[in-house]
Amino acid sequence: MREVRIENLSEEELRQKRSNLVDAYLSAYQDLPEYAYDTRKEVKSYLNWLYRGDPSGFFVAKIGDEIVGFLSCHSNWMDYREGKVCELHEFVVRKEFQGKGIGKALLEKVIEYARSKGRQKITLWVGEGNAPAIAFYKKRGFVYLYKSGIWVRMSLEI
Ligand code: ACO
Repeated sequence: MREVRIENLSEEELRQKRSNLVDAYLSAYQDLPEYAYDTRKEVKSYLNWLYRGDPSGFFVAKIGDEIVGFLSCHSNWMDYREGKVCELHEFVVRKEFQGKGIGKALLEKVIEYARSKGRQKITLWVGEGNAPAIAFYKKRGFVYLYKSGIWVRMSLEI
């Protein structure tokens, strides 16, 4: 596999690469439709919301000029139980690039970023039936907090 670079995205690049980001999102979730938006329009407005909440917390994994994965966190998120946290809102790697260490590299970046913002916790919601992602998080030290509907809340002390 060619070199994978983890980078932030400028606003202009977000506009230019929006379609590429939507493709990555839809590819990642193709086997997990119950936990994802399914129209390009919804994914596009979701991407805008993710980016606007914390542009520096939006990381992409690139191979050449192609975005093969991305992660969005909001580092100034107020959780009613946990206090101020870094909320990992979205995390995807294109299906054909999964299992190659790209997710791990993206997660390392967000840990470093959250620390630089003075946060002590990263929190997230993951679909209760998304066993591979839950296993991925557990293996990296995330712990189960509680469940709400079809979602499981997890957190990592950093
Ligand atoms: N060859 C084979 N396997 C490898 C290699 C390699 N070269 N390098 C790493 N791996 C293994 C890792 O060890 C890891 O296994 P482990 O968990 O037993 O340690 C496994 O592959 C996956 O690790 P990564 O490759 O780093 O992760 P990946 O790039 O697949 O990204 C992610 C993980 C984001 C969950 C991805 O699988 C995905 O997009 N899933 C679908 C969408 C999704 O569920 N997103 C998370 C929802 S929750 C949220 O967004 C808050």
